[in-house]
Amino acid sequence: MKFLQIIGLSGIVFLIHAFRLDTSLAHSEPPVAKAMEERVDSVLRLMTLEEKIGQMTLFTSDWAVTGPTLRENYKADIKSAKVGAIFNAHTAAYNRELQRIAVEETRLGIPLLFGFDVIHGYKTIFPISLGESCSWDLKAMELSARIAAIEASAAGLHWTYAPMVDIARDPRWGRISEGAGEDTWLGSRIAEARVRGFQGDDLLKDNTIAACVKHYAAYGAAQAGRDYHFVDMSELVLRETYLPPFLAAKNAGVRTFMSSFNELFGVPATGNRFLLTDILRDEWGFDGFVVSDYTSINEMVAHGVVANDKEAAELSLNAGMDMDMQGATYYNHLLELVREGRISVQRVNDSVRRILRIKFELGLFDDPYRYSNPEREKARVFAPEHLEAARDISRKSIVLLRNENRTLPLSKGIKTLALCGPLAANQSELIGSWSGAGDYKQAISLLDGIKNKLGSNTKILHTEGCTIEGNDKSGFKAALANAKAADVILVAVGESAGMSGEAASRAELGLPGVQEDLVKALVATGKPVVVVLMNGRPLAIPWLAENAPALLETWFLGTQAGNAIADVLFGDYNPSGKLTATFPRSTGQIPLHYNMKNTGRPMDPGNKYTSKYLDMPNTPLYPFGYGLSYSTFAYSNLQTDRKTFATGETVRISVTVANKGPYDGEEVVQLYVRDRVGSITRPLRELKGFQKVLLKNGESKTLTFALSSDDLRFYHNDLQFRAEPGFFDVFVGGSSDASLTTAIELK
Ligand code: NOJ
Repeated sequence: MKFLQIIGLSGIVFLIHAFRLDTSLAHSEPPVAKAMEERVDSVLRLMTLEEKIGQMTLFTSDWAVTGPTLRENYKADIKSAKVGAIFNAHTAAYNRELQRIAVEETRLGIPLLFGFDVIHGYKTIFPISLGESCSWDLKAMELSARIAAIEASAAGLHWTYAPMVDIARDPRWGRISEGAGEDTWLGSRIAEARVRGFQGDDLLKDNTIAACVKHYAAYGAAQAGRDYHFVDMSELVLRETYLPPFLAAKNAGVRTFMSSFNELFGVPATGNRFLLTDILRDEWGFDGFVVSDYTSINEMVAHGVVANDKEAAELSLNAGMDMDMQGATYYNHLLELVREGRISVQRVNDSVRRILRIKFELGLFDDPYRYSNPEREKARVFAPEHLEAARDISRKSIVLLRNENRTLPLSKGIKTLALCGPLAANQSELIGSWSGAGDYKQAISLLDGIKNKLGSNTKILHTEGCTIEGNDKSGFKAALANAKAADVILVAVGESAGMSGEAASRAELGLPGVQEDLVKALVATGKPVVVVLMNGRPLAIPWLAENAPALLETWFLGTQAGNAIADVLFGDYNPSGKLTATFPRSTGQIPLHYNMKNTGRPMDPGNKYTSKYLDMPNTPLYPFGYGLSYSTFAYSNLQTDRKTFATGETVRISVTVANKGPYDGEEVVQLYVRDRVGSITRPLRELKGFQKVLLKNGESKTLTFALSSDDLRFYHNDLQFRAEPGFFDVFVGGSSDASLTTAIELK
């Protein structure tokens, strides 16, 4: 290795250290941490300022645009150590070649770090993150991230830009699809699970990758749901609602953060010292690195806080940024900024140290090619157990919204089934937005999933009926003819994958195009109609909610979509998903989430001068936590082991849940509290715990939750985080509108 020839004795000593790094001791016991710092410093000491700036520069490969090419200027940048990390490059062979240039052809041979948006799977694609969060199954979510890491790490990747933990309460915002919904507490638990999944128990292992929690911070509060838009909130709201999932990820060991595109308190997050240094470093003690979002440093010019890229580089660095994604601002200006004394060498060293540390933790100095192994890639990508896990997580993510007269589950003995709608045989939308290296051609369509389930016993009459968008109704006739000849009608409607995700906000949240008209025509036949929704956000679909005999929310479930939906449709899996984001009746109700406040004039239908609309109820179409099963669950016997408790103590809350049949099934038992009187106003309800429990037909179980005084803490106007004495209402049930209630008092 070139590295060895150049660096001389001190370098060799450091390399020996690197090889000796004991896997079991890789994380921060003091002597190991010290050894790690020595290794990092031993590299840093050898570096020129130009090489340091290279480590702070991240460029995209042109893979995504043109396939696996290696443009001359990329080669030149890698060869001259002007870039330390590459993203959007993947597959073992391709990344191996890029790595070879860095390791063999640069003065110091510092390995490259390869990043990619492995959001809900690498090749085996899992449900979009919002959909998967509806499983309320933390183990399953950890497993899907684990599998994504196993596949990605075999394909040359070290670093994923996930989990996205932005709390999102505006379904117009397309990126609601990438997160875990509207609730801060649940979002924090999911953030931890996903970080654990990607990073495993040891980054040194060749099947773990560094996670990157994003977008720091408050990106989900984009005004009016328009992507990249202005964000404004109090520090209290920031700390109470938007920051906790980031802190949870940090405490779970996440190694990198990504800054967000939005401004906060008048300063873009990418140049926001309060976020990047005061909170992240000084309060939270984060020692990984922060990467900007794609050209978000340059975009501070358009935000209007700096006049040019050079000033943008300066502002971001002095705020605490470590790595520039794609903007080339450090690449172009940092040398000069240091020479002019506007950025200190110390500041540069801090960033480089953080970046090198992660490269060491990943074992890249031990073996820069350890993640680029074509044989391993072949064996691990699409491994049968990955597909099985994807099918399982997918069916757990499905939410049954409506099921009149037990329309579902369907009999496997149906003679003739009419299958229509633009998404019925579709594969291209099923893997959703940000689908890694996923290949939609590998996705099982609903049509194929049903065929796999029913074989040739059932005649399937398929026609689209219409497209997702557009006004053409000429296909209705054929769809109706099929419907009339069938015993049951299945219609798959929704959005295209590109209608959610980045830069995909919508002002209207109904079904696009003429899809609802198609459903109306089918329902008018009087036959049993099952509407299968595929979409990336909560939709405003009041007509369907009142008129469709059965309504199944399936999001974009990924590679195993069709099989998973068929499992639910035909009763091989009893649906257990619960919404993690409120479905509004109309866009006009937004923002609408379960944990709103009461106001001084809470809604009273008999009193005009109360907080309500003239033309619509305040209530959502479907609340947070809602989702049906083919069984019904009854809640009773809500008890607490004490009525009063003191600070530092814990109350045990128990409830009996019975499966009244007629099937075995899982229920997500949710616990909410309301702080009746606070020195500042408190939400009407706050989720404080849940358990997902399997109950056999006719079985009942008593579950116990522990609620401590710490769980009742909240931020005050002085930004102190503490609980206040007083009464708390406790609600337990299968949705955020649970009615079974008791009260406890914190003395
Ligand atoms: C921009 C997106 O905002 C971010 O989520 C993503 O990770 C980067 N581009 C890299 O693709």
